[in-house]
Amino acid sequence: MFSRYKKPSSATPVQPSAATAAPKAATPQQAKARPAPAPKKAAPARATPEDKERKRRQRLGEIKVELHKRLLEDLNLAALEHASESDLKQEIQAICGEALEEMSIVLNKDERVTLHQDLFDEVMGLGPLETLLKDETVNDILVNGPQQIFVERAGKLQLTDITFKDEKHLLRIIDKIVSAVGRRVDESNPYVDARLQDGSRFNAMVPPIAVDGSLVSIRKFKKEKLGIDDLVKFGAFTEEMAAYLQAAVACRLNVIVSGGTGSGKTTTLNALSSFINDAERILTIEDTAELQLQQTHVGRMESRPANVEGKGAVSQRDCLRNALRMRPDRIIVGETRGEEVIDMLQAMNTGHDGSMTTIHANSARDGVSRLENMIAMAGIEMPLKAVRSQIASAVNLIVQASRLQDGSRRMVSITELTGMEGEVISMQEVFRYERLGVEPDGKIIGRFTATGVRSHYSERFRQWGYDLPPSLFEPVAG
Ligand SMILES: Nc1ncnc2c1ncn2[C@@H]1O[C@H](COP(=O)(O)OP(=O)(O)OP(=O)(O)O)[C@@H](O)[C@H]1O
Ligand SMILES: [Mg+2]
Repeated sequence: MFSRYKKPSSATPVQPSAATAAPKAATPQQAKARPAPAPKKAAPARATPEDKERKRRQRLGEIKVELHKRLLEDLNLAALEHASESDLKQEIQAICGEALEEMSIVLNKDERVTLHQDLFDEVMGLGPLETLLKDETVNDILVNGPQQIFVERAGKLQLTDITFKDEKHLLRIIDKIVSAVGRRVDESNPYVDARLQDGSRFNAMVPPIAVDGSLVSIRKFKKEKLGIDDLVKFGAFTEEMAAYLQAAVACRLNVIVSGGTGSGKTTTLNALSSFINDAERILTIEDTAELQLQQTHVGRMESRPANVEGKGAVSQRDCLRNALRMRPDRIIVGETRGEEVIDMLQAMNTGHDGSMTTIHANSARDGVSRLENMIAMAGIEMPLKAVRSQIASAVNLIVQASRLQDGSRRMVSITELTGMEGEVISMQEVFRYERLGVEPDGKIIGRFTATGVRSHYSERFRQWGYDLPPSLFEPVAG
């Protein structure tokens, strides 16, 4: 059975039955073609445990490279497509056992298990990235060249001890990922966005644009998206804020979630969408489909970049314009970052109220400026006052998400847009996060509080049957 995926040797054809027999000896040609057995380790007189561990890893790494090379030579890659995982694992074990014996290398059981898993990941998966992709505690994977892989756990970046062998190895894995989705990345086409099979968001940039080796970033897809209850439990916002947001979304206010990179914008947007009535028709538009709405009536769209010949691009704006013809009750744009802004605002103003999107900005005010800039960049020539009044009448609420220094993600402000005062958009903050200090371990001490202003939309909430108690808007004492 072991030989099912093994290439038949051209030099000495092997009978199927004979192939399942004990490891074969290397032919003279193979022995010549393959490098000499790895030299036995001569341990230094007084090696520290760290030294030993480093050496052990290095040795395992070298063995892995050699075995991987042999696997690629020996495995019939075409047949692998239909191989079951256990068959392939057995096959790898067999070929490894044979090769290790031939190289006179003895490994203990743990080392063998790790080696077999690593080789399986190399052949079938994404090599060193595979362990990190499987690790549930990892949110983001950031590769800065072959020797440096960072991960984000609980909001904090950590350097891992996982590495690629060299740039060629890293490039091979990148190529494997992008070719699986029909894309290409090389010198002439040095960056690419893709979605991994499991839904994770993937971006890579290769040399020469990436100066010190390929740069890869992966935002891992979470099957179980955080819901409102989880976010309240994690301290992202309070139950009172959740009650207010529920009323806002259910009453069809237009909401923008603003925040920095990785601050939790998409997660918040996804959680807020749970307040939408199940009877409504929702269309979502994203560059990389990340949202997972729970409603029944959802149409999902994903924009597409141009192909290698520069053709076939479908922008978020194209999707949005088309969506308007598809009778949506609400439109959700994953992130507004360009010319689609004008269509988004128009949709919000013309019967698709209750629409939502995210933008990249550091505060509600900053978010409004970003919208103004995007409109200007889209080449729309409109007086600033007209732009602002368009924004003021389209957007009702800006929810500001933030990742604080201690890694915690919090909704640091909820701000209502209440109209225009002269040339300026008037806003009022309804809830905010107040920082009170820092604990010795770096953890930020703070609290959420209402600001004491009455919601501009109180009457609307009441009319829609959401009687929010006045106490909800009272600031925390002290
Ligand atoms: N309140 C939270 N508590 C814990 N983890 C969170 C919280 N909000 C988001 N996360 C996690 O943080 C990561 C980043 O979140 P998300 O994708 O929502 O950020 P983003 O602001 O949309 O990022 P980007 O700018 O890259 O689009 C995700 O893995 C998500 O599960
Ligand atoms: Mg996002």
